[in-house]
Amino acid sequence: MKGKYILLLLLILFSCAPERELPRIIPCPSSVEQKPGCFDAAGAQVVCDDNVSSGIKSLASRLSQQFAQGARASSGKKIWLRFDARVAPEAYELEVNRREVIIKACDYNGFLYALVSLEQLMPQAGERVIPCVRISDAPRFTWRGQLLDCSRHFFTTKQIKKLLDVMCLYKLNRFHWHITDDHGWRIEIKKYPLLTSVGAYRNGTMIEHDMSSNDGIRYGGFYSQEQIKEIVEYAMERGIQVVPEIDIPAHMVSALTAYPFLGCTGGPYKLMTVWDISKDVLCPGKETSFSFLEDIFSEICELFPYEYIHIGGDECPKDRWKECPDCQRLIRNLGLKDTASATAEQYLQNYVTSRVQEILARHGKKVIGWDEILEGDLKPGATIMSWRGVEGGMIAAEKGFDVIMSPLDYCYLDYCQSETPETEPLGIGHCLTVEKCYSYEPLDGLGSQAAKHILGVQSNLWTEFIATPAHLEYMLLPRMLALSEVGWSLPSNKDYPSFRDAVIHTHIPRLRSLGYSCCRNIED
Ligand code: ACM
Ligand code: ZN
Repeated sequence: MKGKYILLLLLILFSCAPERELPRIIPCPSSVEQKPGCFDAAGAQVVCDDNVSSGIKSLASRLSQQFAQGARASSGKKIWLRFDARVAPEAYELEVNRREVIIKACDYNGFLYALVSLEQLMPQAGERVIPCVRISDAPRFTWRGQLLDCSRHFFTTKQIKKLLDVMCLYKLNRFHWHITDDHGWRIEIKKYPLLTSVGAYRNGTMIEHDMSSNDGIRYGGFYSQEQIKEIVEYAMERGIQVVPEIDIPAHMVSALTAYPFLGCTGGPYKLMTVWDISKDVLCPGKETSFSFLEDIFSEICELFPYEYIHIGGDECPKDRWKECPDCQRLIRNLGLKDTASATAEQYLQNYVTSRVQEILARHGKKVIGWDEILEGDLKPGATIMSWRGVEGGMIAAEKGFDVIMSPLDYCYLDYCQSETPETEPLGIGHCLTVEKCYSYEPLDGLGSQAAKHILGVQSNLWTEFIATPAHLEYMLLPRMLALSEVGWSLPSNKDYPSFRDAVIHTHIPRLRSLGYSCCRNIED
């Protein structure tokens, strides 16, 4: 009898084998300490402190419903969400023991990320058993972004929501929505209806890499303001701020086609059908261009409730400005001159940036621009997104500008994923492997003062060659996971072999079961 009792006790003690390997969370938390035993969450109730926000309460009730599914009755077990002002923003403490789960955080994202980690500790669909563990976790950087270009190819709100879901699973918190470009204007602006009725549709698209070709198929689409609000709200529930990019003064042929008075020559213009850079850009020599910007940004600022608006600023050829009488008159009136470091036309771009900074400041917003906006004489207050390499970001940070690092060698997810592009889906070329993404260190080469200006990291998915959701996901996954760990985890916790192992054996299977397409080159 006694023997039977001991056997039963041993069975209870070891039924959730403490040595069961803890699933490796991505991005890797700051500290993880496994404890013996496990917690069965089937039928567990999620209980919040009264003083947590309504958003957190609705998270809790969603989770309770999830744990109730398939459970015979409430188990009486509890998952506590406790507000704790000592925990840093977006950080969380998670303790799982045999009887209960205790989560502490000070804000919505902290609770959300604890629950995301909890979910990753139950990687199989329908799994409810969580190994006992104590996790203390906080993000390394505040900006953990993902760009999607919806101009070159248009993606529906359903597809964007699927992207936001996977961003949330990996604790990314900024969705950079590239929503206007030469190949399509994709956001409804009530005061300028032609931006979408004309500017959202192009007459065909080049075929593969042949710049002289056109498939002859009218292509386009746009998001109504209602749909934009829907995306902003959906993202907010997932802890993600949406940052729209209205690319100016270049990459504007769609707007120029709709409203030719915006260009230096007056047009006519045609939306681009080839993947190239246009010389036709906004004309800053005409004050009507700034009235247009005032108007569109006043509608845009209403739609996006956050601190930043991205204003592009990249790849602006100055050919038209050099020949335009209005632009040249403005250059003379402003007293802009060529110098050893920049041309008068580059200083004219600084003037455009500073006018837009003023417009946005009146709406309580700050500007982000690609690293070209730094050339010449940038006014304080702008944030630089460094894409042509790390140098722009380093110079900007040393000058005291805030910086988001997004260098193409590490962060451009439109690049192919192997040295043999012919074995990959049609793409832009180059090669960026998961391992290379993972190896990126955003603070390399920076002094401690400059390092404080690095807000974080972002991966970019340009879509010239990406026309379908399945292809989009294939380019995104699993490289986005590598960059999520770059943005979140401490360098001392990063370890490529364990990351790779978890991606192959846990995360890719889970993502595939959730319906995502993943590139599997990492398995080679
Ligand atoms: C860019 O890739 N032109 C920002
Ligand atoms: Zn002009």
